[in-house]
Amino acid sequence: LAGRPLAGVRVLLTAGPTREPLDPVRYLGNRSSGRMGYALATALSDLGAQVTLISGPTALPMPPVAESIQVETALDMHGAVMARAADCDLFVATAAVADYRPADPADSKIKKDATGLTLHLVRNPDILAEVAALTPAPFTVGFAAETDRVEDYARGKLAAKRLDMIAANLVGGATGGFERDDNALMVFWPNGRRDLPMMDKRQLARELAALIAERYRERHAA
Ligand code: C5P
Repeated sequence: LAGRPLAGVRVLLTAGPTREPLDPVRYLGNRSSGRMGYALATALSDLGAQVTLISGPTALPMPPVAESIQVETALDMHGAVMARAADCDLFVATAAVADYRPADPADSKIKKDATGLTLHLVRNPDILAEVAALTPAPFTVGFAAETDRVEDYARGKLAAKRLDMIAANLVGGATGGFERDDNALMVFWPNGRRDLPMMDKRQLARELAALIAERYRERHAA
């Protein structure tokens, strides 16, 4: 088990942004590059896991995982995850899922014939919370990108979504976060914490994967 602590473990991992259509040519999106998620998918595979990667649109080459599924919208991602969630042991949600989608996307291109445009948005399902609420639930790992009070908000999400682990990072400042090659994480679980200092995202992914494996094994040894 030494080099491959996740041998035989079925992992479902979401990555990248989602795109929420306004009309056939436009969407609401976000700045997630998918880099952290793809690096983590690779690192978990390297530890022996059988990884299914469910990814929104990114510019990245597909990592060498057991299975990959490409989706566009949060609803597509939700459907792809829920169809497989009962058959996984570990669920890792790195995707930057849109919280809202246009209520009623137009069938044809919206014309600029008015002086303004008001969008009506509705909430998307919280994929991670829904997976964590399954019985039995897989071991669940979430991410939290915060601009301030990182530990408070991350621990709040850990409890509210009933997660086994959450990896939090500070965004919006000069350090870390979206569209960068490096990042730092504070990782929390119900009775513990580990800080992973600023480093290249691939190295960070390897350290986070090792920590996930450690916590997962501890859970399943009990
Ligand atoms: O509550 P918040 O969106 O900050 O939580 C972030 C975590 O929840 C991330 O792990 C993200 O992948 C996941 N999430 C999700 N579905 C959503 C929103 C967030 O899986 N609709």
